[in-house]
Amino acid sequence: MKILVIGNGAREHALTWAISQNPRCTKIYCSPGNAGTAMLATNLDIDITSNNKIIEICLKHSIDIVVVGPEKQFEQGITNALKEKKILIFGPTREASQLETSKSFTKIMCRHKNIPTGNYEIFSSEDEAKNFLRAQPKPYVIKADGLAAGKGVLVSSDFEEGKQFISSIFNGKIGAEKNKVIIEEYLEGHEMSVFFAVDRNTIKCIGSAQDYKRAFDQDRGPNTGGMGSFSPSPLLNERNLERIVNKIVKPTLEYMREIGSEFSGILYTGLILNSGEPKLIEYNVRFGDPECQTLCIRLGAQVLDIYFSGAKNELSNLSINEANDSAITVIVAEKGYPSNPKSGCELNDIVNTKYDNELKIFHAGTYFENNSLRNTGGRIFSFTVRSTDLNKARAIAYKQLKRIKNENVFYRTDIGRE
Ligand code: AMP
Ligand code: GLY
Repeated sequence: MKILVIGNGAREHALTWAISQNPRCTKIYCSPGNAGTAMLATNLDIDITSNNKIIEICLKHSIDIVVVGPEKQFEQGITNALKEKKILIFGPTREASQLETSKSFTKIMCRHKNIPTGNYEIFSSEDEAKNFLRAQPKPYVIKADGLAAGKGVLVSSDFEEGKQFISSIFNGKIGAEKNKVIIEEYLEGHEMSVFFAVDRNTIKCIGSAQDYKRAFDQDRGPNTGGMGSFSPSPLLNERNLERIVNKIVKPTLEYMREIGSEFSGILYTGLILNSGEPKLIEYNVRFGDPECQTLCIRLGAQVLDIYFSGAKNELSNLSINEANDSAITVIVAEKGYPSNPKSGCELNDIVNTKYDNELKIFHAGTYFENNSLRNTGGRIFSFTVRSTDLNKARAIAYKQLKRIKNENVFYRTDIGRE
């Protein structure tokens, strides 16, 4: 089977690694890929913001299935475009990806279907939003409506900061939607992420994880795309899973069918356990980064089976083995990340170090220039380890991380230490 993976992050390197373990995979391509995927796949540097360009290389290389990492491509309708050409893909259409791309869409659905989530109001007037905020209990939760590259949510007890955030949404500095803000009830509790593969007939849980969004230890510093994660989440038990499926996922899929935008693909449920009850914080319509790295190292070759069965609506025939083990990912980022990351740092010493065999290093946005490995973005490597339990995985990961002497990078030292 010939596979094309779309994206250039560590998530896509991990997907490429897992898929390449599967004997059904005969050839794998990555667009655009990075220096890490180049070790396993053929990188094809095309403009992935163009559905036509993606279709062109699928036809040229007789691709059997396309695996998409980032949400952006679902928003641009890659699923709609590939399905029209009868090329297999497991992911939502443009319309169904609104579960991630529009927070107001999802909130309205939750109210309609009685899905447990924080109470909310949506405003299209800046003044009304600010006046409403003033009367709310602290801390405030304020969200931009469209995709915002991880910068679309403010949780703060500072009214002035809240007002400024609302202004930044309305003047277009934050988020893709200039004219909508959501003010939400603050939910107290522990967070977890649970991942489902969903096709026309079946909902399959494929794992759980916990991620770390803040840049620095003890959840200090600015929000990032994620500085680390571990899998599974200790908060997921049978009772919670049953509630998540019955009270959150099933009514969501029912709603999507009712409005004529059936969902299919990887459904990432971001949840908070609030007084023992799982409540929905957000949906993503793809794997998270870095959650994907911890899931992929545990699922291994099964990742391809999930995508292939899902694309053919045959998930009901697939049994997924979740091993009784744990995995951890610690992100190695450029020092200025997330506010002011530098690109082009020299990274050879990091990949040329001799590490223990248990360590997998997944790359994000790396490339070679005259034999020198360099970065394009803030997050550079995912140091990922699978072991019998989380403590062991964490100990192994941090032992390897201590070998890094490069001055251009940093990492959190408290991933997996609850
Ligand atoms: P989101 O992009 O919606 O996942 O929000 C980013 C982060 O903000 C979440 O992972 C939570 O830590 C926090 N957050 C979002 N909504 C709420 C809420 N209603 N109550 C408490 N924390 C929240
Ligand atoms: N780690 C969060 C995300 O991928 O959205």
